[in-house]
Amino acid sequence: MAQRCGRATSRFAAQTRSRLRRSAASALCLCFYLLLPSAAEAGLYTASDQIQPLTPENAGALLVNSTAAIVVEFYASWCGHCVAFAPVYKELARDIKEWKPALDLAAIDCAAKDNRRFCSSYGITGYPSLKFFHAFSQASSTGRFIRGFHHDFSAIRQKLIDKLETHKDLWPPACPPLEPTSQAEVDRLFETNSVQHLALIFEKNTSYIGREVTLDLLQFENIAVRRVLSTEKDLVTLLGVTDFPSCYLYYPGGTFTRLQVNLEARTFYSSALQRLPGVVRSGKPPPVSLDVLANNTKEPWRPFNSSRVYMADLESALHYSLRVEVAAHPVIRKDALTSLKKYVAVLAKYFPGRPVVMNLLRSVDRWLQSQPGDEIQYEALEGILDNSAQTPNTALPEGETWVGCQGSQPHLRRYPCGVWTLFHVLTVVQSSSGGSTDPREVLGAMRGYVRSFFGCRHCAEHFENMARESMVGVRTAPAAAAWLWSRHNVVNNRLAGALSEDPNFPKIQWPSPEMCPSCHTVDANGDHKWNDKEVLRFLPSYFSASGILTDYLEDESKVLEKQRLKHAARKARDAPDPVAPTPSSVQGEEEDEEEELQDEEEEAGEGGADAGEMGAEPSEPTPWDQPAMDLDPGPGRGRGRGLRRPSIVGMRLRGVQEDIVDLDSFVNQLYNAKALRLAASSRVKQRSLQRKEEREPGPRLRLGMELDAGLGMVGLQPMEADYEPDAQKREAFAEELDPRGRWMSVLSIGFSRVDISLCVILYALSSMCLLAMYLFFKNRFRLRRKAVLP
Ligand SMILES: Cc1cc2nc3c(=O)[nH]c(=O)nc-3n(C[C@H](O)[C@H](O)[C@H](O)COP(=O)(O)OP(=O)(O)OC[C@H]3O[C@@H](n4cnc5c(N)ncnc54)[C@H](O)[C@@H]3O)c2cc1C
Ligand SMILES: *[C@@H]1O[C@H](CO)[C@@H](O)[C@H](O)[C@H]1NC(C)=O
Ligand SMILES: *[C@@H]1O[C@H](CO)[C@@H](O)[C@H](O)[C@H]1NC(C)=O
Ligand SMILES: *[C@@H]1O[C@H](CO)[C@@H](O)[C@H](O)[C@H]1NC(C)=O
Ligand SMILES: *[C@@H]1O[C@H](CO)[C@@H](O)[C@H](O)[C@H]1NC(C)=O
Repeated sequence: MAQRCGRATSRFAAQTRSRLRRSAASALCLCFYLLLPSAAEAGLYTASDQIQPLTPENAGALLVNSTAAIVVEFYASWCGHCVAFAPVYKELARDIKEWKPALDLAAIDCAAKDNRRFCSSYGITGYPSLKFFHAFSQASSTGRFIRGFHHDFSAIRQKLIDKLETHKDLWPPACPPLEPTSQAEVDRLFETNSVQHLALIFEKNTSYIGREVTLDLLQFENIAVRRVLSTEKDLVTLLGVTDFPSCYLYYPGGTFTRLQVNLEARTFYSSALQRLPGVVRSGKPPPVSLDVLANNTKEPWRPFNSSRVYMADLESALHYSLRVEVAAHPVIRKDALTSLKKYVAVLAKYFPGRPVVMNLLRSVDRWLQSQPGDEIQYEALEGILDNSAQTPNTALPEGETWVGCQGSQPHLRRYPCGVWTLFHVLTVVQSSSGGSTDPREVLGAMRGYVRSFFGCRHCAEHFENMARESMVGVRTAPAAAAWLWSRHNVVNNRLAGALSEDPNFPKIQWPSPEMCPSCHTVDANGDHKWNDKEVLRFLPSYFSASGILTDYLEDESKVLEKQRLKHAARKARDAPDPVAPTPSSVQGEEEDEEEELQDEEEEAGEGGADAGEMGAEPSEPTPWDQPAMDLDPGPGRGRGRGLRRPSIVGMRLRGVQEDIVDLDSFVNQLYNAKALRLAASSRVKQRSLQRKEEREPGPRLRLGMELDAGLGMVGLQPMEADYEPDAQKREAFAEELDPRGRWMSVLSIGFSRVDISLCVILYALSSMCLLAMYLFFKNRFRLRRKAVLP
């Protein structure tokens, strides 16, 4: 279209257009730069650190009249001390993560130009400085300095408790009482409260453990924690306490038991108390009983041993990653291709699979390594994955059978759990094989895979942050396994209590004291410390190839038979029809064509798709659909696999880059609102057609996104929309879907992922449209004026 207009108009118009194109293109870039989440992170902290970024803009909202006390680190990114202190502050943030509702951490980079004046208005002269802002601080408050802190986060933690106790009448509402209790108060507590458990921590007056555990439990219901001083004679004699510290569970009527822990220390108390029966995180549903899960006929519960690794999870993860996640990229090029090659190479080398699977992985590896170009079509890869050459004894089982990664609901655990398990196993096998020269071989492959393909883009971002921070320090293969273990624990810490946490499988610092008692110890301060030597012994035994259980695996012969049948079916379908096309084959061709177009539209704009998902009735496409879909599908944008791109961040980006290709037609498209509407309706139809091709209808999962605005991780969502079959089947399928699968809209207060992506996309589209129109007309008028003048 640009061509046509260009030829028909004057030199001036050509200039206009090129200028228009340039300015609109830069406007587009700007738009998408703004849409990208924290693309440019500066300073010493990232979004993964659980430290609130303070800015002059958000200071009012963050510091003034906050219901939690806030600690702010004022630092300068160039200052060596600050760089050295950053890991301490991060460690502190992880350590007191559970205290957030009462005490939160923030940081500001005073070296950034925009922040300098702000920092000096708080009286900051040296870096790093820590300031404590009481809950319900006034706008005029500049906080209190915390002095004399060293590079010891547990010392800072104690100073913070001292500061918390300086609150007078305006106590942070989420903060439980911290002062020592007495017999009289304990008796009253049962009269006025309906707590299920009362934990009493007996300690010396200089100990902080009681207050720390109290704060550790503040987000949990049905439990109260109080400290009792060793000088509180009544209670001490009543319970016969001789050890300080020690923890007792006290029940109405005066019955009590001592809490059994490996070591008398804070972390052991906290984690034991958090796992008492009936104790649940506030606002979280209680765990689902095994009975209910077992009686679920839709997806029968598979009993498993939670201290073991199951091959079924690993094979399911392979299937999902290679046939679903990678398949979301019809063309795999450059970085993504390199990542894929490394990933498959590592699988072929270290995956401890059964012979059929290993044969398949090796053939995929050979094929990938023999690809000379810097791009491949997924379709070609799929042929290898499905063993279309019919090499004997070679197959990757289709479908997902989660065992150790089962979730109590369809949107919990499963694939991401499988990914973690897979990579732990691979690092351990690499370390035990001893043959590798590159200690980061598996880690590097994982990093690349997560970066290029892992559907949860926020997860990928966080993982990349961690990798950038510390992966280079890995020098040996056992250190690689340990690195992944410790980073996984960092993720567990961050996600504890998030929406994606399965109440039946809470995020713990793994392995628990029950699984590996000797892995846990305490340091001189009485703080929890991992016994690294023991962990390094535990990991290889837990994830070793020989310890993997093969329960629930489909028989090899069955897997091969299924593959044969699929192959035969495909051959029959692909066979050219010698006679004139029958109505049904014409139909088939149309479907293929529309699938291609649909792919294009997914790139071109999500608006249409979302309109479809939001309940617009599928309508027949009209001949006018063509202009809206006239864009060249591009090389290799083959038949859609019927898979949405797993992340909306990814979608957004790709959509745009491709749209820039022909700006004129893009502007035209937007200008013509009809086109959009048509795109929406045709899109709906294509979706329903494409669904007929779906091989395994059934609730599958898609990684969602993390909503930062206080909603927490939305986590996995059932791929309802994608797996909804065509109109006739829709009803039957709805019945199949567990009603709980629709949790999303409830949990996120009516903002589904769809709503949000729709908003974002419509917002972007409309602003670009306005911008483009503005620029276009502005240039037009200017040129016309120029043209009128001699
Ligand atoms: C690379 C990556 C990054 C992720 N980032 C995010 C994110 O930023 N936000 C988000 O909401 N979700 C993220 N996820 C998903 C999240 O980590 C969980 O996988 C998901 O919530 C399912 O949790 P789960 O309870 O099944 O346990 P998972 O954390 O998936 O763990 C699976 C199994 O591994 C074992 N395990 C647990 N901890 C360890 C450990 N430290 N070392 C060794 N084994 C362990 C346990 O047996 C556990 O059941 C990420 C996943 C991956 C693979
Ligand atoms: C401060 O917050 C409390 C509750 O959060 C509210 O009742 C009060 O009006 C607020 N005060 C000011 C000055 O904003
Ligand atoms: C702890 O108790 C001792 C005496 O038992 C007392 O001297 C000391 O001041 C107390 N410390 C605190 C912090 O209360
Ligand atoms: C599950 O089934 C068992 C026996 O089949 C039954 O005893 C039990 O009550 C059922 N549980 C629920 C929650 O339905
Ligand atoms: C689960 O596995 C662990 C480790 O192998 C074993 O000690 C335990 O007995 C198993 N539990 C069950 C119920 O089989």
